[in-house]
Amino acid sequence: KANTVAKTLGGKKYFGSATDNPELTDTAYVATLSDNTLFGQITPGNSMKWDATEPSRGVFTFAGGDAVAALAKKNGQLLRGHNCVWYNQLASWVTAGNFNATTLTSILQTHCGTVVSHYAGQMYSWDVVNEPFNDDGTVRSFVFSDALGLTSYVTTALVAARAADPAAKLYINDYNIDSAGAKATAMLNLVKSLKTAGTPIDGVGIQGHLIVGEVPSKAALIANYQAFTALGIEIAITELDIRMTLPETPALLAQQQTDYNTVISACKAVVGCVGVTIWDYTDKYSWIPGVFTGQGAALPWDDNLVRKPAYDGIIAGF
Ligand code: XIL
Repeated sequence: KANTVAKTLGGKKYFGSATDNPELTDTAYVATLSDNTLFGQITPGNSMKWDATEPSRGVFTFAGGDAVAALAKKNGQLLRGHNCVWYNQLASWVTAGNFNATTLTSILQTHCGTVVSHYAGQMYSWDVVNEPFNDDGTVRSFVFSDALGLTSYVTTALVAARAADPAAKLYINDYNIDSAGAKATAMLNLVKSLKTAGTPIDGVGIQGHLIVGEVPSKAALIANYQAFTALGIEIAITELDIRMTLPETPALLAQQQTDYNTVISACKAVVGCVGVTIWDYTDKYSWIPGVFTGQGAALPWDDNLVRKPAYDGIIAGF
Protein backbone atom coordinates (compact mmCIF):
# COMPACT_ATOMS: atom_id res chain seq x y z
CA LYS A 1 0.00 0.00 0.00
CA ALA A 2 2.71 2.49 0.96
CA ASN A 3 4.60 1.69 -2.16
CA THR A 4 1.71 2.42 -4.48
CA VAL A 5 -0.13 5.20 -2.68
CA ALA A 6 2.68 7.44 -1.52
CA LYS A 7 4.23 8.64 -4.73
CA THR A 8 6.46 11.09 -3.00
CA LEU A 9 10.17 11.68 -3.12
CA GLY A 10 11.34 8.19 -3.87
CA GLY A 11 8.36 6.97 -5.84
CA LYS A 12 8.51 3.70 -3.90
CA LYS A 13 8.63 4.68 -0.26
CA TYR A 14 6.73 7.30 1.60
CA PHE A 15 8.24 10.37 3.20
CA GLY A 16 6.16 11.84 5.98
CA SER A 17 5.98 14.07 9.01
CA ALA A 18 4.47 14.02 12.45
CA THR A 19 2.20 16.88 13.30
CA ASP A 20 0.21 17.98 16.32
CA ASN A 21 -3.17 19.59 16.80
CA PRO A 22 -2.12 22.97 18.26
CA GLU A 23 0.01 23.63 15.14
CA LEU A 24 -2.90 23.15 12.79
CA THR A 25 -3.95 26.75 13.34
CA ASP A 26 -0.66 27.90 11.75
CA THR A 27 -1.67 28.31 8.13
CA ALA A 28 1.84 28.66 6.69
CA TYR A 29 2.84 25.51 8.58
CA VAL A 30 -0.21 23.57 7.37
CA ALA A 31 0.35 24.65 3.77
CA THR A 32 3.75 22.95 3.58
CA LEU A 33 2.57 19.94 5.63
CA SER A 34 -0.28 19.50 3.17
CA ASP A 35 1.96 19.43 0.10
CA ASN A 36 1.52 15.79 -0.79
CA THR A 37 4.23 15.91 -3.42
CA LEU A 38 6.53 16.33 -0.43
CA PHE A 39 4.80 14.61 2.49
CA GLY A 40 2.99 11.43 1.51
CA GLN A 41 2.22 10.49 5.09
CA ILE A 42 1.47 12.07 8.47
CA THR A 43 1.43 10.86 12.09
CA PRO A 44 -0.35 12.52 15.03
CA GLY A 45 2.35 13.44 17.55
CA ASN A 46 0.09 13.26 20.60
CA SER A 47 -3.63 13.12 19.93
CA MET A 48 -4.03 9.34 19.55
CA LYS A 49 -2.12 8.50 22.73
CA TRP A 50 -3.89 6.87 25.67
CA ASP A 51 -4.11 9.99 27.84
CA ALA A 52 -5.75 11.82 24.92
CA THR A 53 -8.09 9.05 23.76
CA GLU A 54 -9.26 7.40 27.02
CA PRO A 55 -8.64 9.95 29.78
CA SER A 56 -11.15 8.17 32.04
CA ARG A 57 -12.00 4.49 31.92
CA GLY A 58 -14.42 3.82 29.08
CA VAL A 59 -14.63 7.49 28.08
CA PHE A 60 -13.12 7.86 24.62
CA THR A 61 -12.32 11.20 23.00
CA PHE A 62 -11.29 11.26 19.38
CA ALA A 63 -11.61 14.91 18.38
CA GLY A 64 -7.87 15.57 18.21
CA GLY A 65 -7.05 12.36 16.39
CA ASP A 66 -9.97 12.84 14.03
CA ALA A 67 -8.64 16.26 13.01
CA VAL A 68 -5.31 14.75 11.99
CA ALA A 69 -7.04 11.84 10.23
CA ALA A 70 -9.26 14.30 8.33
CA LEU A 71 -6.21 16.30 7.26
CA ALA A 72 -4.53 13.18 5.91
CA LYS A 73 -7.65 12.27 4.00
CA LYS A 74 -8.05 15.77 2.58
CA ASN A 75 -4.40 15.80 1.52
CA GLY A 76 -4.35 12.27 0.12
CA GLN A 77 -1.70 11.25 2.62
CA LEU A 78 -1.12 7.94 4.37
CA LEU A 79 -1.79 7.93 8.09
CA ARG A 80 0.20 6.16 10.81
CA GLY A 81 -1.54 5.57 14.13
CA HIS A 82 0.51 6.34 17.24
CA ASN A 83 0.07 4.59 19.69
CA CYS A 84 -2.01 2.02 21.57
CA VAL A 85 0.13 1.23 24.59
CA TRP A 86 3.13 3.07 26.00
CA TYR A 87 4.52 3.62 29.48
CA ASN A 88 4.42 7.38 28.88
CA GLN A 89 1.36 9.57 28.31
CA LEU A 90 -0.68 6.74 29.71
CA ALA A 91 -3.88 7.87 31.42
CA SER A 92 -3.31 8.26 35.14
CA TRP A 93 -6.26 6.01 36.00
CA VAL A 94 -4.40 2.94 34.62
CA THR A 95 -2.51 1.81 37.70
CA ALA A 96 -1.58 -1.57 39.16
CA GLY A 97 -2.99 -0.49 42.52
CA ASN A 98 -6.48 -0.14 41.10
CA PHE A 99 -6.76 -3.31 39.00
CA ASN A 100 -5.69 -6.95 39.02
CA ALA A 101 -4.02 -8.68 36.06
CA THR A 102 -7.25 -9.98 34.53
CA THR A 103 -8.82 -6.54 34.62
CA LEU A 104 -5.68 -4.93 33.22
CA THR A 105 -5.78 -7.35 30.27
CA SER A 106 -9.35 -6.40 29.64
CA ILE A 107 -8.55 -2.68 29.94
CA LEU A 108 -5.78 -3.06 27.37
CA GLN A 109 -7.99 -5.06 24.99
CA THR A 110 -10.74 -2.50 25.24
CA HIS A 111 -8.39 0.44 24.74
CA CYS A 112 -6.54 -0.91 21.70
CA GLY A 113 -9.67 -2.45 20.24
CA THR A 114 -11.70 0.74 20.57
CA VAL A 115 -9.05 3.16 19.33
CA VAL A 116 -7.93 1.03 16.38
CA SER A 117 -11.53 0.26 15.47
CA HIS A 118 -12.39 3.97 15.48
CA TYR A 119 -9.86 4.55 12.69
CA ALA A 120 -10.38 1.24 10.88
CA GLY A 121 -9.88 1.57 7.15
CA GLN A 122 -8.01 4.88 7.53
CA MET A 123 -4.63 3.71 8.79
CA TYR A 124 -1.66 2.49 6.84
CA SER A 125 -0.14 1.25 10.08
CA TRP A 126 -0.37 1.45 13.85
CA ASP A 127 2.37 1.69 16.43
CA VAL A 128 0.51 -0.78 18.63
CA VAL A 129 3.28 -1.07 21.20
CA ASN A 130 5.60 1.85 21.86
CA GLU A 131 8.98 1.64 23.59
CA PRO A 132 8.77 -1.78 25.28
CA PHE A 133 12.50 -1.97 26.10
CA ASN A 134 15.12 -0.20 28.17
CA ASP A 135 18.36 0.72 26.41
CA ASP A 136 20.11 -2.38 27.79
CA GLY A 137 17.46 -4.61 26.20
CA THR A 138 15.63 -5.41 29.42
CA VAL A 139 11.87 -5.04 29.54
CA ARG A 140 10.72 -1.57 30.45
CA SER A 141 8.85 -1.61 33.73
CA PHE A 142 5.35 -0.13 33.78
CA VAL A 143 1.88 -1.21 34.76
CA PHE A 144 1.27 -3.68 31.91
CA SER A 145 4.71 -5.29 31.77
CA ASP A 146 4.84 -5.52 35.57
CA ALA A 147 1.40 -7.10 35.91
CA LEU A 148 1.23 -9.24 32.76
CA GLY A 149 4.76 -9.68 31.43
CA LEU A 150 6.11 -8.55 28.06
CA THR A 151 4.76 -11.36 25.88
CA SER A 152 1.30 -11.25 27.38
CA TYR A 153 0.71 -7.51 27.16
CA VAL A 154 2.25 -7.18 23.70
CA THR A 155 0.19 -10.11 22.43
CA THR A 156 -3.02 -8.76 23.94
CA ALA A 157 -2.49 -5.40 22.27
CA LEU A 158 -1.56 -6.85 18.87
CA VAL A 159 -4.44 -9.33 18.78
CA ALA A 160 -6.94 -6.64 19.74
CA ALA A 161 -5.56 -4.29 17.08
CA ARG A 162 -5.69 -6.95 14.34
CA ALA A 163 -9.31 -7.76 15.16
CA ALA A 164 -10.20 -4.05 15.15
CA ASP A 165 -8.58 -3.23 11.79
CA PRO A 166 -7.38 -6.21 9.77
CA ALA A 167 -6.00 -3.92 7.04
CA ALA A 168 -3.63 -1.90 9.22
CA LYS A 169 0.00 -2.96 9.49
CA LEU A 170 0.78 -3.57 13.13
CA TYR A 171 4.09 -2.26 14.47
CA ILE A 172 6.20 -2.27 17.58
CA ASN A 173 8.12 1.00 17.79
CA ASP A 174 11.24 1.97 19.75
CA TYR A 175 14.32 4.21 19.80
CA ASN A 176 18.02 3.31 19.94
CA ILE A 177 17.42 0.29 17.73
CA ASP A 178 18.96 1.92 14.63
CA SER A 179 22.04 -0.29 14.58
CA ALA A 180 23.09 -3.56 16.22
CA GLY A 181 23.16 -3.63 20.00
CA ALA A 182 21.42 -5.00 23.07
CA LYS A 183 18.19 -3.13 22.44
CA ALA A 184 17.98 -4.09 18.75
CA THR A 185 18.67 -7.70 19.73
CA ALA A 186 15.86 -7.60 22.29
CA MET A 187 13.49 -6.30 19.61
CA LEU A 188 14.60 -8.95 17.12
CA ASN A 189 14.04 -11.66 19.71
CA LEU A 190 10.60 -10.32 20.57
CA VAL A 191 9.55 -10.31 16.91
CA LYS A 192 10.90 -13.83 16.43
CA SER A 193 8.95 -15.12 19.41
CA LEU A 194 5.75 -13.39 18.24
CA LYS A 195 6.16 -14.87 14.75
CA THR A 196 6.71 -18.34 16.20
CA ALA A 197 3.58 -17.99 18.31
CA GLY A 198 1.53 -16.84 15.31
CA THR A 199 0.84 -13.46 16.88
CA PRO A 200 0.05 -10.73 14.35
CA ILE A 201 3.09 -8.47 13.78
CA ASP A 202 3.85 -6.69 10.51
CA GLY A 203 6.56 -4.21 11.25
CA VAL A 204 9.11 -2.64 13.52
CA GLY A 205 9.26 1.11 13.79
CA ILE A 206 12.75 2.48 14.24
CA GLN A 207 12.12 5.89 15.77
CA GLY A 208 15.44 7.46 14.85
CA HIS A 209 15.92 10.19 17.46
CA LEU A 210 19.54 10.75 16.55
CA ILE A 211 22.39 13.17 17.23
CA VAL A 212 24.35 15.14 14.63
CA GLY A 213 27.75 13.53 14.12
CA GLU A 214 26.75 10.38 16.00
CA VAL A 215 24.59 8.66 13.39
CA PRO A 216 25.66 5.06 12.71
CA SER A 217 27.29 4.41 9.34
CA LYS A 218 25.08 3.66 6.37
CA ALA A 219 26.46 0.11 6.33
CA ALA A 220 25.61 -0.39 10.01
CA LEU A 221 22.09 0.95 9.49
CA ILE A 222 21.50 -1.25 6.46
CA ALA A 223 22.79 -4.38 8.20
CA ASN A 224 20.45 -3.78 11.13
CA TYR A 225 17.45 -2.89 8.95
CA GLN A 226 18.05 -6.14 7.04
CA ALA A 227 18.24 -8.15 10.27
CA PHE A 228 14.65 -7.00 10.92
CA THR A 229 13.31 -7.50 7.41
CA ALA A 230 14.90 -10.98 7.32
CA LEU A 231 12.30 -11.95 9.94
CA GLY A 232 9.57 -11.41 7.36
CA ILE A 233 8.40 -8.01 8.57
CA GLU A 234 8.70 -4.51 7.19
CA ILE A 235 10.40 -1.63 8.91
CA ALA A 236 9.88 2.11 8.84
CA ILE A 237 11.82 5.01 10.26
CA THR A 238 9.01 6.50 12.28
CA GLU A 239 10.24 9.55 14.22
CA LEU A 240 13.41 10.80 12.62
CA ASP A 241 15.08 13.89 13.99
CA ILE A 242 18.79 14.63 14.29
CA ARG A 243 19.54 17.09 17.05
CA MET A 244 22.58 19.18 17.86
CA THR A 245 23.92 21.11 20.79
CA LEU A 246 22.88 24.71 20.15
CA PRO A 247 23.78 27.12 18.71
CA GLU A 248 23.56 26.02 15.09
CA THR A 249 26.78 26.52 13.14
CA PRO A 250 27.39 26.06 9.42
CA ALA A 251 29.54 23.03 10.25
CA LEU A 252 26.79 21.42 12.34
CA LEU A 253 24.19 22.11 9.66
CA ALA A 254 26.47 20.53 7.04
CA GLN A 255 27.01 17.47 9.22
CA GLN A 256 23.24 17.28 9.76
CA GLN A 257 22.74 17.29 5.98
CA THR A 258 25.11 14.33 5.73
CA ASP A 259 23.40 12.56 8.62
CA TYR A 260 19.89 12.90 7.16
CA ASN A 261 21.23 11.67 3.86
CA THR A 262 22.76 8.63 5.56
CA VAL A 263 19.49 7.54 7.16
CA ILE A 264 17.32 8.18 4.09
CA SER A 265 19.71 6.41 1.75
CA ALA A 266 19.99 3.45 4.13
CA CYS A 267 16.20 3.08 4.08
CA LYS A 268 16.24 3.42 0.31
CA ALA A 269 18.77 0.58 0.07
CA VAL A 270 16.53 -1.87 1.97
CA VAL A 271 13.47 -3.13 0.11
CA GLY A 272 11.52 -3.78 3.32
CA CYS A 273 12.03 -0.25 4.64
CA VAL A 274 8.70 1.23 3.55
CA GLY A 275 9.18 4.86 4.48
CA VAL A 276 10.63 7.59 6.64
CA THR A 277 8.68 9.94 8.91
CA ILE A 278 10.34 12.97 10.47
CA TRP A 279 9.10 13.95 13.93
CA ASP A 280 7.54 17.14 12.61
CA TYR A 281 9.22 19.03 9.81
CA THR A 282 10.11 22.37 11.38
CA ASP A 283 12.23 23.32 14.38
CA LYS A 284 9.35 25.63 15.31
CA TYR A 285 7.38 22.63 16.58
CA SER A 286 10.11 20.15 17.50
CA TRP A 287 9.83 18.38 20.85
CA ILE A 288 13.63 18.32 21.27
CA PRO A 289 14.39 21.68 22.99
CA GLY A 290 11.71 20.97 25.59
CA VAL A 291 13.20 17.62 26.55
CA PHE A 292 16.94 17.79 25.81
CA THR A 293 18.29 20.91 27.48
CA GLY A 294 20.57 22.97 25.25
CA GLN A 295 19.81 20.87 22.17
CA GLY A 296 17.57 21.43 19.18
CA ALA A 297 17.59 22.44 15.51
CA ALA A 298 16.86 18.78 14.79
CA LEU A 299 14.56 19.10 11.78
CA PRO A 300 15.03 19.99 8.09
CA TRP A 301 13.08 23.26 8.22
CA ASP A 302 14.08 26.04 10.63
CA ASP A 303 11.94 28.05 13.05
CA ASN A 304 10.81 30.29 10.17
CA LEU A 305 9.76 27.34 8.00
CA VAL A 306 12.82 27.87 5.78
CA ARG A 307 14.58 24.80 4.42
CA LYS A 308 17.94 23.94 5.96
CA PRO A 309 20.81 21.98 4.36
CA ALA A 310 19.27 18.83 5.89
CA TYR A 311 16.43 19.15 3.38
CA ASP A 312 18.89 18.75 0.51
CA GLY A 313 20.38 15.74 2.27
CA ILE A 314 16.95 14.14 2.34
CA ILE A 315 16.21 14.84 -1.31
CA ALA A 316 19.58 13.47 -2.35
CA GLY A 317 19.03 10.40 -0.19
CA PHE A 318 15.75 9.47 -1.84
C1 XIL B 1 6.57 13.39 21.99
C2 XIL B 1 5.77 14.54 21.42
O1 XIL B 1 6.38 14.97 20.22
C3 XIL B 1 5.73 15.67 22.42
O2 XIL B 1 4.88 16.71 21.96
C4 XIL B 1 5.20 15.16 23.77
O3 XIL B 1 5.26 16.18 24.72
C5 XIL B 1 6.01 13.97 24.23
O4 XIL B 1 6.02 12.98 23.23
N1 XIL B 1 8.92 8.93 21.26
C6 XIL B 1 7.61 8.78 20.87
C7 XIL B 1 6.76 9.98 20.68
O5 XIL B 1 7.19 7.66 20.56
O6 XIL B 1 5.42 9.73 21.01
C8 XIL B 1 7.28 11.16 21.47
O7 XIL B 1 6.52 12.30 21.10
C9 XIL B 1 8.75 11.37 21.22
C10 XIL B 1 9.53 10.16 21.64
